Amino acid sequence: MSAARLTGTKYGCGSGGCGACTVMLSRYDPHCSANACLLPVVSLHGAAVVTVEGIGSTKTKLHPVQERIAKAHGSQCGFCTPGMVMSMYTLLRNQPQPSLEDIREALTGNLCRCTGYRPIVDGFKTFCGVSECCQNGESGKNCCGGGPSTLCNGSSDVSQTSAFRKTVQTLVLHLHFQLMLQKGGGGRLCFQGNRVKWFSPADLSDLLELRAAHPNAPLVVGNTNVGPNMMFKGDVHPLIISPGSVMELHTVSWGKKGVTFGSACSLSEVKEELQGAVGRLDPEESRVFQALLNTLRCLAGKQIRNMATVGGNILSADPKYDLSCILAAADCTLQLVSKEVPLNEKFFAGFGRTHLRADEVLLSLHIPRSQPWEFVSAFRQAQRREFAFSIVNAGMKVVFKEGTDTVQSLSIFYGGMGPTLLRVKRTCEGLVGMSWNEGLLEEACRLLAEEVALPPTAHGGKTEFRSILSLSFFFKFYMQVVQELREKGVGVADLPLEYLSALKPFKNEVPQGHQTFQMVSEIQSSKDPVGRPRVHIAAFQQATGEAKYYDDLPAVSGELFVFMVTSTRAHAKIISMDFSEALRVPGAVTFLSARDVPGQNRRLWFNNTEELFAEEECTFRPLQVCCVGQIIGAVVAESREQAKRAAERVRVTYDDLSPVFFTIEEAIQHQSFFNPKRKLERGNVDEAFGKVDRILEGEMYMGGQEHFYMETQGLIAVPRGEDGEMDLYVATQHAAFTQEVVGHTLGVDSNKITCHVKRLGGGFGGKVMKIASLSAIAATAAYKTGRAVRCVLDRGDDMLITSGRHPFLGKYKVGFMNDGTILAADITYYSNGGSTLDESSFIMEKALLHMDNGYKIPNLRGHGLVCKTHLPSYTAFRGFGGPQGLTIIESILHEVAAECGLPAEEVRAVNMYSEEESYTHHRQPFCPRDMVRCWDECLEKSDYSSRRLAVQHFNATNRWRKRGICAVPLKFGIGFSKGFYNQGAALVNIYKDGSVLVSHGGTEMGQGINTKAVQIASRILGVPMSSIHIKETCTGNVPNAAPSAASFGTDAVGMAVKDACEKLMKRLEPVMKAYPKWTWSQWIVEAYCQKISLSATGFFMGPHTSVDWEKSEGAAYYYFTFGACCSEVEIDCLTGDHKNIRTDIVMDVGKSLNPALDVGQVEGGFVQGLGLYTIEELQFSPDGALRTRGPNQYKIPALCDIPPQLNVHLLADSQNPNAIYSSKGIGEPPVFFGCTLFFAIKEAIAAARRESGLNGRFALSSPATVEKIRMACVDRFTEMVCFTKPGSFTPWAINV
Ligand SMILES: Cc1cc2nc3c(=O)[nH]c(=O)nc-3n(C[C@H](O)[C@H](O)[C@H](O)COP(=O)(O)OP(=O)(O)OC[C@H]3O[C@@H](n4cnc5c(N)ncnc54)[C@H](O)[C@@H]3O)c2cc1C
Ligand code: FES
Ligand code: FES
Repeated sequence: MSAARLTGTKYGCGSGGCGACTVMLSRYDPHCSANACLLPVVSLHGAAVVTVEGIGSTKTKLHPVQERIAKAHGSQCGFCTPGMVMSMYTLLRNQPQPSLEDIREALTGNLCRCTGYRPIVDGFKTFCGVSECCQNGESGKNCCGGGPSTLCNGSSDVSQTSAFRKTVQTLVLHLHFQLMLQKGGGGRLCFQGNRVKWFSPADLSDLLELRAAHPNAPLVVGNTNVGPNMMFKGDVHPLIISPGSVMELHTVSWGKKGVTFGSACSLSEVKEELQGAVGRLDPEESRVFQALLNTLRCLAGKQIRNMATVGGNILSADPKYDLSCILAAADCTLQLVSKEVPLNEKFFAGFGRTHLRADEVLLSLHIPRSQPWEFVSAFRQAQRREFAFSIVNAGMKVVFKEGTDTVQSLSIFYGGMGPTLLRVKRTCEGLVGMSWNEGLLEEACRLLAEEVALPPTAHGGKTEFRSILSLSFFFKFYMQVVQELREKGVGVADLPLEYLSALKPFKNEVPQGHQTFQMVSEIQSSKDPVGRPRVHIAAFQQATGEAKYYDDLPAVSGELFVFMVTSTRAHAKIISMDFSEALRVPGAVTFLSARDVPGQNRRLWFNNTEELFAEEECTFRPLQVCCVGQIIGAVVAESREQAKRAAERVRVTYDDLSPVFFTIEEAIQHQSFFNPKRKLERGNVDEAFGKVDRILEGEMYMGGQEHFYMETQGLIAVPRGEDGEMDLYVATQHAAFTQEVVGHTLGVDSNKITCHVKRLGGGFGGKVMKIASLSAIAATAAYKTGRAVRCVLDRGDDMLITSGRHPFLGKYKVGFMNDGTILAADITYYSNGGSTLDESSFIMEKALLHMDNGYKIPNLRGHGLVCKTHLPSYTAFRGFGGPQGLTIIESILHEVAAECGLPAEEVRAVNMYSEEESYTHHRQPFCPRDMVRCWDECLEKSDYSSRRLAVQHFNATNRWRKRGICAVPLKFGIGFSKGFYNQGAALVNIYKDGSVLVSHGGTEMGQGINTKAVQIASRILGVPMSSIHIKETCTGNVPNAAPSAASFGTDAVGMAVKDACEKLMKRLEPVMKAYPKWTWSQWIVEAYCQKISLSATGFFMGPHTSVDWEKSEGAAYYYFTFGACCSEVEIDCLTGDHKNIRTDIVMDVGKSLNPALDVGQVEGGFVQGLGLYTIEELQFSPDGALRTRGPNQYKIPALCDIPPQLNVHLLADSQNPNAIYSSKGIGEPPVFFGCTLFFAIKEAIAAARRESGLNGRFALSSPATVEKIRMACVDRFTEMVCFTKPGSFTPWAINV
């Protein structure tokens, strides 16, 4: 598509895991959404592909899908937006009036890292055809009666549903393809590429002929297994046979005994067919179909299901794939060309291998109808409920002697319990003849516990959890069957009522919710956009794919590509680095290392240096590496594929060094810390411990987090060939720093280096530091070759090299009174900084500065130590240490409440700051009034008290499901504690036609800084927003800008834009006074003629914040943003799954500049926090290599994770005299609110543990993953599994 200059379709991962590349594929009815990254071009012969460019544009007419996502504020950075649009568009092509469930299903395969999904769904809900309201009322009903302050994207904004029309063009194409299909699509096709030959056989006999001739060639249909393996595992297939157009492999036939699916039927086709069957067949006949359907509903995302085939799923022989277990349990058979074989454990030979003969072809799969005394179920549990590979899956079938509860046969298969399908033969055989009752359950668990036991070192880790899950699945099956037997009037087994809820799977729902904010005052001019919920100014370009990101820029003539070579050892000397073979790869141009850097091979940051390329410490010593993923060299080639291939051929030999360690605990043992070590103290902590009723000690660990911005890091460096000038088109949050580092690297003054930043596809703090190093390396390549050089990190490399949020460990001692009042707390924070300091010390400072949150703990002491380990360096991430600092104190509050036996909210309230003139623990004065208002409103709006009672009632009446509810307040410092960064600059030019160009030092990464800047300029200049443009951020226009970070971007830039505009207005004033009736354009022309300068710079000198760390005092922040959040969750105690039920947030953003954008930041931040605290888990191998290197291993929140009720209220009547138009910074604070889910989960777990007689405290580290939830819910099943003592074996993955 890039060859066709169609850059709307985005590339976020290349593995089918993000949906950014979604396109519509049409061959015959229905159209289907597909992941372009997994579609080989040659597989598209005879198909029509519609990309986002094909459905509408700002130049012609927007398609309603594009218009509605934009107007509903569903696009922030915009990188996921074309994919979202195409998923929805495809749905509408097939179903012009979809249901909410259709929309939910259509979006399961699309990830968004910015919005939190709610506004996207709101925009698309309008297609459901009920009304033009945003449907945000209770239960998805109309909300427009909700009063003026309800954020409704309804009537005037969103176009009418009738505006959606099928275009004539697509209908013609549609008929054309149907005709082609009838004709059979022609003869055999053969495509020859440089490395791969692709055959597409005409029919079955042709396929068999090809298969016989090329037995080692894979049969590729959906390419969802072969494709990623070729891309990421280095599989090479010189010849591929693609039988996608062989009609015999697509047939579906129903017979008396069941249904037969051709092996090339897609999973969507299978799902649809079974859905129909379940609706029309007797339930007794369709139990197998029902079980399969339940599995298919959450198997992958819609796009994958549209492409992936049932044959491919089975023959991939991956035990994590879900179908084989249930198909095997249900006695399905496979029709091969040569014979029919049962699908069972004997069919599989090992991971990725079957016993199929090499030249064999799977024709079809037969699935039998179930019999009256046969009960079948399928189970799966994944890290995320949808769009995630299962950790363990299972298929179970029991057959009873007719009319009895005596087991005639039992069939249980597990996936994810080893390299291949596991049939628990002994268990199944041992239970035959038994009655289906408690005795059988006991025996089954005893036998199963032996059969599913995994060695602690097993591949995939989580071994105890996987074993327990296997038992839990059986228990669920046992209960289901008891239920069904009782319905049939058989069976004596008792099933208590409080067990029944465990049988209902969690329902995935679309988020509903209210967003309320205060309208602007009635006296504000209708032309003044400040304070109004204006749409993101680039939303339409983002929705049409016209918005350009760095990698969308067309190739500069002669452009090269650079690919990084990284260390595979954590601590080692490099003995040799041989790149000769790499340079022999066609297209390879040169190899780069530290020696090629013309200036300094260093990135300098506040006196901390970090090497660009690993280099000699001094001339006599060999190269050393200090983490896996450290850049040691780079290969430059003519294309990205060639550069990648060449980089893979660089041979490096290492000599390992010791010590090598990765975890915080190990760093503490080695006393390996960076300087400075920080301390903050208020009061006399030691003395206070002597006066308290009780003392409690504990610790809390919080794992790290990957930024997972949808656009990976990269840039294009273009040498201008004169005076050392170089232009960089770069995705950076800090253009001035990138410019400076590139200058130092090349030995060139900053005035020769220009950084251009159009927009970022998400940043979240991750595009400040490392991007400067990558830019310097690309610039070095451009310098060396004299040609433009493009660098685009693969998702896996991005995750490996750039790292993310710091893991933290907080160890604490707290002294409190029996009423929960905390008098003293002593906390030591340890963060894992990785191998270099980066921003770690400032991040630790922010954690310490937030350790009091909203609580006046009179004696409070915090130590902060950044651990130096052999991991890639951790860096800034939205919140910048704030969430970690806050979470530890909230953990303390939670523990104190539990220890005192008091409701947590009472303990929070009793400790909260309340005096009008309060002082933080670093003696910064502030008024907590609005924080307390947020807290009170949050408890009220969330109906906290009665829901807390309802939670208690629920827990008393449900054994295997438990609920928890938690509310927290928030006080979050805004601005940089390094005071000199609190500055902003802008340049405003007015052109003779009256149009205005604003430039500023901030970078647009979805947060809407440009929109707010234009709103401000519009207010002051009095011209409509449409006359004001922001082209890019450019170091040539606005120099020395601070990073867009610390929630301070708009504060700084907004003030600077205001300043520049006010200067211009002052200059224009005489002209305006002289000609009061003239228009803006006339004034401008007149001003020009009068030689009045129409260009002005604006500057904002923010406060000089600073902290005296010796004295533990200082105004660290400009001001505080306040808020409160309440969340309720439900956990499945048997599987560890959880469902977020409802979240209410009250946020004080002062007088919002743009409530729509601010609500977007609140929701998006909260959802990032949801990921941080509940599902996002990074895994490292014991030798320090990141294992989670893509969306298939690392799960960020998807649509299924969003609380169905997510309500956001912006606090009314709030003022902030400190910032632009009384607004407040909002980017970072809401991330912390994700912790409400964590503590609510902890409460739910506590309720589950009480059922087992465990009433004491227990540790739970963040994120509260399915594994941790299940393991903490101690019960009879957890006790059946053998635990191996940590430290006595080498685990598959470690916590760092
Ligand atoms: C992002 C993502 C998420 C996923 N999530 C899940 C999930 O949650 N659960 C799950 O179960 N699966 C999941 N999958 C896996 C997916 O279901 C399988 O990759 C898919 O079913 C394979 O089908 P395919 O047509 O794409 O196979 P291909 O990749 O085209 O082929 C796979 C293999 O099957 C062989 N093969 C295919 N057809 C035949 C035939 N007729 N005769 C002989 N050999 C044949 C090929 O030779 C090849 O070795 C996911 C995949 C992706 C990319
Ligand atoms: S780029 Fe295709 S799914 Fe991510
Ligand atoms: S708007 Fe969805 S990823 Fe940024």
